[in-house]
Amino acid sequence: MGNPLFAKKPLELCLEEMKGENRLRRVLGPVRLSSLGIGAIIGTGIFVLTGIAAHDKAGPALSLSFCAAGLACVFAAFCYAEFASMVPIAGSAYTYAYVTLGELFAWIIGWDLILEYAVGSATVAHGWSHYFQDFIGIFGLRLPQALTIAPFDFDTAAGHFVRTGSVFDLPAIVITAIVTWVLVKGIRESATFNALMVGIKIAIVLFVIAVGSFFIDPANWRPFAPFGYGGISFFGHTVWGQTAPDGTALGMLAGAAMIFFAYIGFDSVSTHAEEARVPNRDVPIGIISSLLISTILYIAVAVVLTGMVPRDRIDINAPVSNAFAQVGLPWAQFIISIGAVAGITSVLLVMMLSQPRVLLAMARDGLVPPGFVGDLPEKFRTPWKSTILTGFFVALMAALLPLRILAELVNIGTLLAFVIVCTAVLIMRVTHPEAERPFKTPFFPLIPILGILSCLVLMFSLPVENWWRLLGWLAIGFLIYFGYGRFHSVMAKRRAAAKP
Ligand code: ALA
Repeated sequence: MGNPLFAKKPLELCLEEMKGENRLRRVLGPVRLSSLGIGAIIGTGIFVLTGIAAHDKAGPALSLSFCAAGLACVFAAFCYAEFASMVPIAGSAYTYAYVTLGELFAWIIGWDLILEYAVGSATVAHGWSHYFQDFIGIFGLRLPQALTIAPFDFDTAAGHFVRTGSVFDLPAIVITAIVTWVLVKGIRESATFNALMVGIKIAIVLFVIAVGSFFIDPANWRPFAPFGYGGISFFGHTVWGQTAPDGTALGMLAGAAMIFFAYIGFDSVSTHAEEARVPNRDVPIGIISSLLISTILYIAVAVVLTGMVPRDRIDINAPVSNAFAQVGLPWAQFIISIGAVAGITSVLLVMMLSQPRVLLAMARDGLVPPGFVGDLPEKFRTPWKSTILTGFFVALMAALLPLRILAELVNIGTLLAFVIVCTAVLIMRVTHPEAERPFKTPFFPLIPILGILSCLVLMFSLPVENWWRLLGWLAIGFLIYFGYGRFHSVMAKRRAAAKP
């Protein structure tokens, strides 16, 4: 009967489960799904990371960095879309891995998705707090120092943790609590709140592009790639491109690895497959359209920003609003801060919406406690207990842990998920050639192979400590799986019952 660790969940069983009553409400159409995708994508990355990426890594070639990272995501997005149309249930990459690679891989990816969604939410709540405090500062308001930030940070130069003088990050806790409350209310309410936030942030991104383009000085684009077009490293050693004094790689592709965070979130649309009205059609539309719209906006913002301000004068904390102050439009700071706060709120909302849905799929398979995590009361039909549990942990991490450590874990965890989904598409085409695929990845097998290679290049280009942290995280996951999941697995019980 084979090793139970690698037991695969039959595709037919996944589809059968969707016919029962204990499932989420099907209320999302293509526009709401695309809006959820954009809600999860555009946030901290464009409003904060563009500054350091342009200033320190890529210069005006940042627009090409966005093209390169966007391309890696497009390859992965096609693979997500194929799977989501085939297996339209809440677990996303976790379920795809269970069907193709077996239970242990499914657990690894489910555990890894916590890095993307829950740890990602904590990172984003930090970013929200930062922008919120800037925003109230415009009106001369300030929080007491003890309530502004996590109590310690990692000093990369000294190589150890240092105290910040604060006790905890209060705004991060408050926004997490508000978002948790909206999420418990229901998917329709969450999607409506998200649509409002997305409308505000897109309007403000378009404002940046339209107004900023009048202040472009083409001289700022020369030299276009001051650090070259390379920037690939392998476990901390630059293999292509220039190296900075601190040993990190420089260049257009190093910029791509840094701004990859800006694209995280398009895949979250696949966790809503179970709530889609016509999942086979609408989920692929939601994934691909949200990614394409965000990519176009990102490239345009990068072109405008690097044209407005010389590279060495781009602000690394609030690059977009500062660029407007530098060209003599300080009032724009107010508008852009609203866009950033709305944008980051919607990222937080969609990420915290996605996490309990992955946990729900894992609970149905018995890998986490189903009574608690899988409870869907008739009134809301949302996984409310795990939503509150997620909110609690996100608030705790955001209040107490430093941003840098959280953000780096999120990138490597998400890239690993993309690699596994691209691999799973390749496997599935061989093992289940006959399965119905309402959406097919084009140029097969080229696109999944390019997806795997490009995500691996980005993973290897991350600082080496990330790999150790990822392995540490996976080790904790193994302890939980071998202590609980393995003994409660529904598949394992079925196999045992089927034995003669
Ligand atoms: N892509 C999301 C952001 O940039 C995570 O905030």
